[in-house]
Amino acid sequence: MLECVDLSHISYYYKMINLNNIEHFAQGGNRRCFVHPLKKDRCLKVSFEGQSEKVKKNAAWYKKFRSAESFDDNLREQSAYQQRSLKNNNPNKWKHLARWYGMVETSIGPASETELVLDKNQNIAITLEKYLFTFGMTDEIKKALGDFESWLRSSLVLTKNIIPHNIVVGYEDNLIVLKIIDGLGSSSFVPLPEISDFFAKRYIERRIQLMWSRINWDLSGRKGSWK
Ligand SMILES: Nc1ncnc2c1ncn2[C@@H]1O[C@H](COP(=O)(O)OP(=O)(O)O)[C@@H](O)[C@H]1O
Ligand SMILES: [Mg+2]
Repeated sequence: MLECVDLSHISYYYKMINLNNIEHFAQGGNRRCFVHPLKKDRCLKVSFEGQSEKVKKNAAWYKKFRSAESFDDNLREQSAYQQRSLKNNNPNKWKHLARWYGMVETSIGPASETELVLDKNQNIAITLEKYLFTFGMTDEIKKALGDFESWLRSSLVLTKNIIPHNIVVGYEDNLIVLKIIDGLGSSSFVPLPEISDFFAKRYIERRIQLMWSRINWDLSGRKGSWK
């Protein structure tokens, strides 16, 4: 005989974050970013594909998604946060990288939950791109870029090409602290930097060099190719 099981109590324990009617504060090429409605110091990123799943009514996202590609960008980020350099207990590894708190379910699709980076007035931090376009290469930002560069070399955190709109201008003790908010991971075709410090160092030197090319390209009005 078939028995009916009452599962209504489960929703009591399992709360989906409601992002309906909440405006995103920014967006990139792949994701929309929201301030977490319950934790004001956290950012929730929902990929556009996830957004489009909204039309599939209200069922839980994990039932609606047929393929992992639907939230690929967040998935890639999740695996990038598992990289070797972030497995140790060194708190310095978060100095220039937004903390990552995992994937959460929202009413408009799965979201990655990260630290929301703030400026010295507790407003949402602007990107390095916006800073450079607004203020240019100030002494303050030059120093912050130098600190960031040293951290890349010492932490061996792997990033894809470091583009100024994927870095935000945070503050600590009234000094600028640049933070990576997107583009973590490795763009190396052969994954040697992921397993060897020697190759990681070489790979990072190249990212630093390309970061400066990109900054100089931005500052010079984006003439020619940035690489
Ligand atoms: N943790 C964060 N703190 C503050 N601003 C953020 C944060 N994450 C993203 N942003 C803002 O949202 C924009 C888009 O986020 P991003 O993660 O780069 O999305 P995409 O994957 O679509 O490129 C960023 O350029 C930045 O302005
Ligand atoms: Mg981005």
